[in-house]
Amino acid sequence: MNHVSASTPTQSLSPLELDPNTLREISSYVTEKIVAYLESLPDQPVCDTENSEVVAASLLEPLPESGENYKELVDLVFDKAVTKGYNSASPGYMAFIPGGGLVHSAIADLISNAINRYVGIWVSAPGLVQIETNVVRWFCDIVGYADDAGGFLTTGGSLANFSALFSARRTRLPEDFLSGRIYTSDQAHHSVFKAAILAGFPQSAIRIIPSDSSFRIDLGRLHKEIRKDRRNGFHPFAVVANAGTTNTGAVDDLERIADISEKENLWLHIDAAYGGFFLLTEQGKQRMKGISRADSITLDPHKGLFLPYGTGCLLARNSETLRKAHAIHACYLPPMQNKAGRIDFCDISPELSRDFRGLRAWLPIKMHGIDVFRKALDEKLDLARWITDQLESLPNIRIVAQPQLSVVTFRVRSFETETSRANAQTQHLLERINAYEHVFLTGTLLAGIFIIRICILSFRTDRSRVETCLRDIRKACLELDSSTSNES
Ligand SMILES: Cc1ncc(COP(=O)(O)O)c(C=O)c1O
Repeated sequence: MNHVSASTPTQSLSPLELDPNTLREISSYVTEKIVAYLESLPDQPVCDTENSEVVAASLLEPLPESGENYKELVDLVFDKAVTKGYNSASPGYMAFIPGGGLVHSAIADLISNAINRYVGIWVSAPGLVQIETNVVRWFCDIVGYADDAGGFLTTGGSLANFSALFSARRTRLPEDFLSGRIYTSDQAHHSVFKAAILAGFPQSAIRIIPSDSSFRIDLGRLHKEIRKDRRNGFHPFAVVANAGTTNTGAVDDLERIADISEKENLWLHIDAAYGGFFLLTEQGKQRMKGISRADSITLDPHKGLFLPYGTGCLLARNSETLRKAHAIHACYLPPMQNKAGRIDFCDISPELSRDFRGLRAWLPIKMHGIDVFRKALDEKLDLARWITDQLESLPNIRIVAQPQLSVVTFRVRSFETETSRANAQTQHLLERINAYEHVFLTGTLLAGIFIIRICILSFRTDRSRVETCLRDIRKACLELDSSTSNES
């Protein structure tokens, strides 16, 4: 296809344009670097923080006046800058919430950035906007939303939670909204609290409801707090439920929270940043029954769909609520679309200019088909169950909560009566496990008790790595045993 009309005068090449040969050269150089990097991933340390500050300091530099050869620059990234810190692409990375990062999305980003078309408004790139709209529609199908649902891609779960609470505020409360009250459990991710603050609320507007022994929100307490606030003249308007907490992977009783929300006329937002894509599996569907009754849902494709960091999603059961919250007229923009199916993303979300995020989800899903993702997620659930069963047979390990999804939580079965000493033992065990450098686990506090989490979610984490994890935990327990008996 010829994009150049016959009358176009020859254009001079800007010094900032990469000439075709250099572009080909750089692309193949970078591709080889990426291939070598990904091939060596299984053998790279999963966490290396030794001398991090030295490496970081060595990269300090002033604004360069003249240019350098690209090879040296690319080498600097691969051979120096990336070497320190947490290796979140490694199969051994089971810390926080991993995803791995499908390299297909990097290729999609290359295309998006090279063509650099504007996807904030429909008329500017209708074909590309349609691709992104398809992705959002697929996600709506996954959560069970009907045709009038909609949403947009964000940079992550935090911003999706922010836009959810902002939309809830704008649609449910008057301009003077400070008497509004939001309810969530003590297991909610901190981004929910940040979202409420960013949406303009004081911290006192967030009611933290205790969770039960399975780390699900206590529904009796939730209902009681809502009624108490109403009696005291406040305006309960939103509840944030969890579909997979960060600490333990707990899923609130979504059906019953939906019942309460309907009865009390609250906006129900479900933070499914971690758990949402398990809806592709039968087990996930059972666990998250009722999710489609939510007014809005946060998903994080950079977790459960294994995409690289930078892709979150907010869905709303009624897409008009998003428009009502975000649409503002500007005379320098083209008219917004008023035909069904034509989305101006700037009209339903906080951003105007932004990257073309849709392609980074679309390309891998289209290349593989969703069943490959479903099977990978099923595998993670099975691996979490498997290692839990194995850990239960270790004499000095105590499972803290049975996995509801793919987070496994445990601590040292301690005879210490003092919490701080028992916590120190578990902390010590964690340090020993990570010191072998095959896996990287992190901990958290549950009601003051320090616990270790194994979060199995990266598409690269397979049975062999989980077996390695178990072997390292066993070994660390033995070492801990002998050091404790030496002390006594
Ligand atoms: C349950 C939950 N919600 C929200 C977030 C925030 O997502 P992001 O880091 O993509 O902003 C996270 C991150 O781990 C999470 O686990």
